[in-house]
Amino acid sequence: MIRIVQETGSTNADLAARLAGGEYLPEGEWLVADRQVAGKGRLGRVWNDGAGNFMGSTVIRPAAGDPSPATLALMTGLAVYEALVGFLPRQSDLRLKWPNDLLLNDAKVAGILLEAANGVVIAGIGVNLHSAPDIPGRKVVALSDLGVEIGRDGFAQALTVSFDLELQRWRTAGLAPLLRRWQSAAHPLGTRLTVLPPGEEALEGRFAGLSQEGNLLLALDDGSQRTIHAGDVMLASAPH
Ligand code: BTN
Repeated sequence: MIRIVQETGSTNADLAARLAGGEYLPEGEWLVADRQVAGKGRLGRVWNDGAGNFMGSTVIRPAAGDPSPATLALMTGLAVYEALVGFLPRQSDLRLKWPNDLLLNDAKVAGILLEAANGVVIAGIGVNLHSAPDIPGRKVVALSDLGVEIGRDGFAQALTVSFDLELQRWRTAGLAPLLRRWQSAAHPLGTRLTVLPPGEEALEGRFAGLSQEGNLLLALDDGSQRTIHAGDVMLASAPH
């Protein structure tokens, strides 16, 4: 079920407040806002307004036997990818970037913020259908910049379907097929990346795929390989 509100601070914060108030939110329930005035991005960034864009949140209820919740970033990224790619004239323009960014011609077109709250995971998704929220130092793009006009409600329908499907696949088929599909929707192996692991200097290297747990493998120029569990990742060619 999709509930739409005209204006709110943040759809993630709204779901967190409802959970904190003792409300039971089932999987499959979405809160979508026409406008957000205090939208939250990753790493404490702001995710501004974006009228005409998709801004919505839902919950995932991790259960016994599920894969690690850390892999929900990849699952959610793939769900957004699947929802969006069908609207594009050229599928190859859209790429996933670890852990859960979507790039259109190397510019950020969507963002995902996963937050743990009251034993569930809130998945917040913002997609630049109509305009691109400014993110200092990042190349950003909206689908309408490329002449691709996607209505918010049509996209919301596509996303709820793909999210549901990917969540069930994540639960039942395990990680291996998810990782394979994620990697084939990502930038190619060998792509130069800059990685900022928390509390460390920036690392430069080449994308060497995903570990069996879904971590990022980075081939460093000295021939060694680093497994990245967390951090900000940028295409090395993009400004940052
Ligand atoms: C990012 O920084 O890449 C993540 C952006 C996530 C934005 C979405 S919009 C809907 C949901 N509510 C929020 O406050 N943030 C997420």
